[in-house]
Amino acid sequence: MFDFLKWPESASSMSGRIDFVFNVLNAVTVFFSILIVVVIVYFAIKYRKGAKADRTNAPDEGLAVELAWTIIPGIICVFLFGLATWVYLEAVRTPAGAMEIYVVGKQWMWKLQHPEGKWEMNELHIPVGRKVKLTMTSEDVIHSFFIPAFRIKQDVIPGRFTTMWFEPNKIGEYHLFCAEYCGTKHSGMVGKVVVQSQADYEKWLRQGNLKGSMAERGEKLFRQLGCAGCHGPGASVRAPMLNGLYGSAVPIQLPNNGGTKVVQADSRYIMDSILLPEQEIAAGYKPIMPTFKNQLKPEELLELLEYIKSISNANGGRNSSAAEPPATGKPRPDIAPLAGPSTPRPMNEPLASPSQRLEDSGAIDARRR
Ligand code: CUA
Repeated sequence: MFDFLKWPESASSMSGRIDFVFNVLNAVTVFFSILIVVVIVYFAIKYRKGAKADRTNAPDEGLAVELAWTIIPGIICVFLFGLATWVYLEAVRTPAGAMEIYVVGKQWMWKLQHPEGKWEMNELHIPVGRKVKLTMTSEDVIHSFFIPAFRIKQDVIPGRFTTMWFEPNKIGEYHLFCAEYCGTKHSGMVGKVVVQSQADYEKWLRQGNLKGSMAERGEKLFRQLGCAGCHGPGASVRAPMLNGLYGSAVPIQLPNNGGTKVVQADSRYIMDSILLPEQEIAAGYKPIMPTFKNQLKPEELLELLEYIKSISNANGGRNSSAAEPPATGKPRPDIAPLAGPSTPRPMNEPLASPSQRLEDSGAIDARRR
């Protein structure tokens, strides 16, 4: 009967700290609520009508009291702000070395994609004790990805990529919800998170629906869409080479010959370049890239991203795809457009520090010439 009073299980590295902030806020609230009620009741009784309390010479000022009721709540508020900010920053900053999983929400299901190639519906398998980064988008309307046991929740927005991370620390099965009303069957948009041992996870990853890794599928798409026709080494059109791109610093032409600025080639930059190519033009190149905004499903965009990442890890490791003849760049009739008018942009992807951005801009210049 009192199940609703029970807290959801705590199963991630952050959930304890988030609960701690919640408990501190609760304790402060309860303490002052009780204090105020006690004082109200005490004075109501003491000064009730007809009571023989002394009502003469009531003081109308008191510096000590005024200082106390300013300074004490001030200190408490600053303490709460500091505590909550510290935990919040920990919770939103994705740590380095997190394994990546891609999430696509649609009415009314979750599709979860592991870079190794395996995908699953309304279920997420992950190994215990590993940091996991989710990159999420929606095919239709706004959803919200919510795992109560990990104390994480993030909106999933069409045309935009949001990220979130967690580190499960307990083997088990946990609820997964959509926490944003998204239509008739919103309440059925639920699933489960299965936290396994590393060995079990690896075994699971090798079973079933494997159609090549995401990078392999992205490479195939890269050829089908004709990207290699411009971005390949033998291309007649001059376009930036893409190996080594991911994670590097890219000089961008500012409008009206306003010089250049340097941006980090992160997921945001690459996905914007595919969907909104006219927005950021790599310095020294013409704005001739067509947009692929209405030709790619979110999943396909993510596969292209994984492919571009994969040719950036190995040193200049461009593989055979570049030599392939370009396919026609015509829109494919069989794929739905990426919904939503807004700019794709991860909401909370950490920005690189200026030094990091500039670190290898020299190398880039050399490569681009
Ligand atoms: Cu999706 Cu509610």
